[in-house]
Amino acid sequence: MVKVITYGTYDYLHYGHIRLLERAKALGDYLIVGVTSDDYDKSRGKINCGQSLIERIEAVRATGLADEIIVEEYDGQKIDDIKRYGIDIFTLGSDWEGKFDYLNEFCKVVYLPRTEGVSSSEIRAENKKISIGVLSDYKSSEKLFEECKYVNGVSAQYCDDYLDFDAVYFVTKPEKRYGDVKKALFNNKNVLCEAPFALKSEQCIELLKIAKERNLILFPSIKTAYMTAFNRLILLAESGKIGDIISVDATCTSIRPNRRSLFTWGSIALLPVFRLLGTNYISKQIVTKYFDSERKADGFTKIDFVFDKAVASIKVASDAKSEGELIITGTKGYIYVPAPWWKTDYFELRYENSTENRRYFYQLDGEGIRYEIVAFANQINRGYNPGYLSDDILVAISKVMEDYNEGKDLFVL
Ligand code: CTP
Repeated sequence: MVKVITYGTYDYLHYGHIRLLERAKALGDYLIVGVTSDDYDKSRGKINCGQSLIERIEAVRATGLADEIIVEEYDGQKIDDIKRYGIDIFTLGSDWEGKFDYLNEFCKVVYLPRTEGVSSSEIRAENKKISIGVLSDYKSSEKLFEECKYVNGVSAQYCDDYLDFDAVYFVTKPEKRYGDVKKALFNNKNVLCEAPFALKSEQCIELLKIAKERNLILFPSIKTAYMTAFNRLILLAESGKIGDIISVDATCTSIRPNRRSLFTWGSIALLPVFRLLGTNYISKQIVTKYFDSERKADGFTKIDFVFDKAVASIKVASDAKSEGELIITGTKGYIYVPAPWWKTDYFELRYENSTENRRYFYQLDGEGIRYEIVAFANQINRGYNPGYLSDDILVAISKVMEDYNEGKDLFVL
C-alpha cells in the first residue's frame, strides 16, 4: 500500500485545496492530511485564519478524500509523521517547490502544480474588507500601515475626514478622545482608539453604551491585551498554577521627558491588575512626581491598590528608569515576565523547587500591532466579543485617570 501525506491550513476550503487533495490521493492508496493547529499557524505568522481548527478539519473530512486526518502542531513534525505512519510520498502544492526537499531523505517528495486564481488569503480579504482612516496628532502610524499588510482585507491610511472609511483609528491627545470617539460613533463608524478613550468613568460608560446601541465596535488600542503570551499567562494564573494570587506588580518606563506617564502607560500597566484581580479594589494611593515646573507632565507615577484578598502596584515613568517587568505573586509560585513585559513573547512560572519551573514562549511578530488589528477586524465581522477587555476594565482605567486628574487618592512628591 502506498501511503501519501500532505499538509495545509485549509482555511475556507476552496477549489484549489480540493484539486490538490484529489491529486494527492491519486498518487497512492491511502491519504493522510495534516491540518495545522491554530497555535502552530500563529507561530509561523499566519495570524488571521477565518476558521477554527475544528471547522477546517470538518471541511477536509467532508471532501471524503482523506483516509486519515492529523493535526500539525510543531516545526519538524513532518519528519516524525513520515516515520510514524510509514509514509511513501510527501506532497504539497508548487508554491512550496524546493522547500521540503530535505524530506527526500525519508520518502519521495512530489510538488503538484498549484491551482491558479484561488487562495484562502483572497477569500479572507473578500470576506472582510475593512478600510481604516487614521487621525493622528503625532503622525506616527507608519507601523500600523506596515502591520496591516499582514491582515488580509484590512487597509489603513491617514485621513482628515473619516466618513468614507469603515472604521476610524484615533491616535489623538487623551483630552480630545472622548469628543472624537463620540462624534465618530454618531457617524456610525467602528472606532479603534488609543487607551484610555475617556478621562472620566462616566464618559467611558457613555461611549460604550452608544457603541452597543448602534451595534458598533469601540475598541481600545492596548496592544498587549491582544498578544498571545499575555493572554496565556493570564489563563495560567487564573487556572491556579501559582495558587491564589496575592500581588500583581507591573512596571513600565521609557525615558521620554515631558511625557505624561500615567496617560501614556497607565492603560497597559493596569491591564494585568484589573484582568487578574477584578476592578473592585478597596483603596488605592497614587503617588506622582512632576519634573517640569508647570507640573503638567507626571514623569513618575506609582499606584498601590488594596483588594479584598490581594494587592497590586503599578509604576510608570517617562522621567525615570526601572526594570519593565511584570510579577504575579501566588501562594504556590509566581509568574515572571521579563522586560519589556508589555511586548511579551516569553514568561516563566517559578516555584520554590526550581525543578518545577516552566518556561513559555509564544511567537510575537512585529510589535503586536497586527494582533490588535486582527482582533478589531474580527469583532467588526463577527460582532462584539468581550474576550480580551471587558467594559468594566475600560471603565476602571478611566476612573483611575479621573481620580488622578481630580487629585483624589493623590500624593505629590
Ligand atoms: N493549494 C493549491 N492551489 C491553491 C491553493 C492551495 O494547490 N490555489 C495547495 C497548497 O499548495 C497546499 C494546500 O493546497 O499544498 C494547502 O494550502 P493552504 O496554505 O492551506 O491554502 P492557501 O489557499 O495557499 O492559503 P493562504 O492563502 O492562507 O496561503
